[in-house]
Amino acid sequence: MSEKVISDYNGYDYKKEFWEDVDREYEDQADRMAIRKLLPKRMEKFADIGGGYGRLATEYLKRAHKVIIFDYSKSELKQAQEIYGNKIETRAGDIYKLPFKDGELDGLMMVRVTHHLKELDKAMAELYRVLKPGGVAVIEVANKRTLPKMARYVTGRSKVNPFDKKVANYKNISKDGFYNYHPKYVEEIFEKTGFNCERVLSVSNFRNKGLKKVFGTKNLVKMEDTAQKVLAPIRFAPSIYYKLRKPEK
Ligand SMILES: C[S@@+](CC[C@H](N)C(=O)[O-])C[C@H]1O[C@@H](n2cnc3c(N)ncnc32)[C@H](O)[C@@H]1O
Repeated sequence: MSEKVISDYNGYDYKKEFWEDVDREYEDQADRMAIRKLLPKRMEKFADIGGGYGRLATEYLKRAHKVIIFDYSKSELKQAQEIYGNKIETRAGDIYKLPFKDGELDGLMMVRVTHHLKELDKAMAELYRVLKPGGVAVIEVANKRTLPKMARYVTGRSKVNPFDKKVANYKNISKDGFYNYHPKYVEEIFEKTGFNCERVLSVSNFRNKGLKKVFGTKNLVKMEDTAQKVLAPIRFAPSIYYKLRKPEK
């Protein structure tokens, strides 16, 4: 039987607890840098899928005529509405059953959400359905094949094998499940769904407390800019970004 997971952010102050109480300036900048490189410059109707409180809205507001932030959490969407007012529309629901018509969007992105999804293939099929032919999806994937995860596995500190294509579920991190994906596994899903992959970026390459201390956020952000492209072929970063296109009919 298929099991769907919704990580419920209702009542959790994601903005404050995850982004403001902890120094994640480098990670935030790394996400923004990738999005700027991958999102089309002009879109008619765009949705941020699992967009939460709209952390990244300033990256797409200027590119899209109409912006919808979609999320399961009504408290996240309420916060988004308070911040951006009538610049955005919000829609609540489940990624596995998106409240959008077939071909309604010409652009979408989904960032920092795949680690909540047990059935990525089903979510991708929904994203494909709601895009119009020629439309673009920018998808961030939580990578299981990172260097630290490899080191933990080969030294026996973790049983999760980063080299096999099976989805990793780190149940110890979240009661709902916390999924990491092998790049080959997700790329096969994208292809089976019907997407063409136009560009790949390696993102958050230096996500490490020690590196932040030694180099400082400003320098890491500069290094990140180059690394996103150069390191993309080896897919070792914790976040891999994909620019996917639904083919024209
Ligand atoms: C880590 S947050 C990321 C928010 C935003 N994309 C960002 O990068 O700041 C994950 C978001 O995914 C949403 N989410 C998780 N599972 C979902 C599902 N099945 N349907 C809709 N939203 C979901 C959560 O409510 C939460 O807002």
